[in-house]
Amino acid sequence: MYNDSMDESQLQLNEKDELCHLLTLKNLDKIAIEKMLDQAQKYISSKIISDEEKDFFQNLTIANLFFEPSTRTRGSFEIAAKYLGCNVINIDVENSSKKKGETLLDSVKTIQSLGVSALIVRHGEKDSLKLITEEIGEHCVVINAGEANISHPTQGLLDLLTIRQEKKSFENLVVTIIGDLSHSRVVQSTAQGLTTMGVKEIRLVSPKQFSLDENISPVCRSINNVDEGIKNADVVMALRIQHERIEATEEEYTTQNYFEEFGLTHKRMKLASPDAIIMHPGPMNRNVEIESSLADSPKSVILKQVANGVAVRMAIIDQLLKFRFKS
Ligand code: CP
Repeated sequence: MYNDSMDESQLQLNEKDELCHLLTLKNLDKIAIEKMLDQAQKYISSKIISDEEKDFFQNLTIANLFFEPSTRTRGSFEIAAKYLGCNVINIDVENSSKKKGETLLDSVKTIQSLGVSALIVRHGEKDSLKLITEEIGEHCVVINAGEANISHPTQGLLDLLTIRQEKKSFENLVVTIIGDLSHSRVVQSTAQGLTTMGVKEIRLVSPKQFSLDENISPVCRSINNVDEGIKNADVVMALRIQHERIEATEEEYTTQNYFEEFGLTHKRMKLASPDAIIMHPGPMNRNVEIESSLADSPKSVILKQVANGVAVRMAIIDQLLKFRFKS
């Protein structure tokens, strides 16, 4: 079924180009994204599911396998799966057989053999999701919960849902993303999704050492000056500095220097559109990338992003499990 030359965007589709895993938003078409957003929106209105669906989901088990820390993503996948009626197991990686030398692929084959129907994985190494899908994808749905600095598709989808709720349409939007772009997986997925949904412009603002090597899409523009980046923007997203991915030898900003040069502040937000919203995927470092009181201000939709994460993950689990296991 799979071959070595396939990238993640091909690997997540079957022979008929239907989505059977969620590995990336790259090359995922607008219809597929809208279907997930629409279903998530329904789950925001009501999380009640029918008796027939309950019967279906209660026979399925979801496993969370997180090799990197998480609060939002892991918690919301667990809550989403439980709302649907699935069984959920959380593999405690620190106390797993990894400690006894088991490889990643042996671990995922083992978990799949336990009878798991969907494996939700966060991993710090590039291509880990591709390898896992090649290994067990024929038997089990694989969902990317954050891969290295490559992709975080469910975060991208919840960002899109939040923007759609707030702005109604993607057309003509100017979206500014400020921060440590080179170590961020969120910027990749969110910008890929925004491009597909047809925003006018994505401004990628960062210090030079945190800028991206490759342009994500033709609507993306790299800017090093934060005021220029925020001017007339409709959506402004701050990202934290990903210290865990920065080599000790790389030059780092001090907290104070970073806040002064790139921090999102009340003063800087005055440059944005009057009805601009403020986003952050979390976790936040208050008074580093965002002024603390701004994060709690009426313009902030940061907690709405978190809440939307549950509905988006319900929609993803629902769609992929039904597609794979409902006859
Ligand atoms: N946004 C995000 O992925 O947060 P967590 O690391 O808490 O899951």
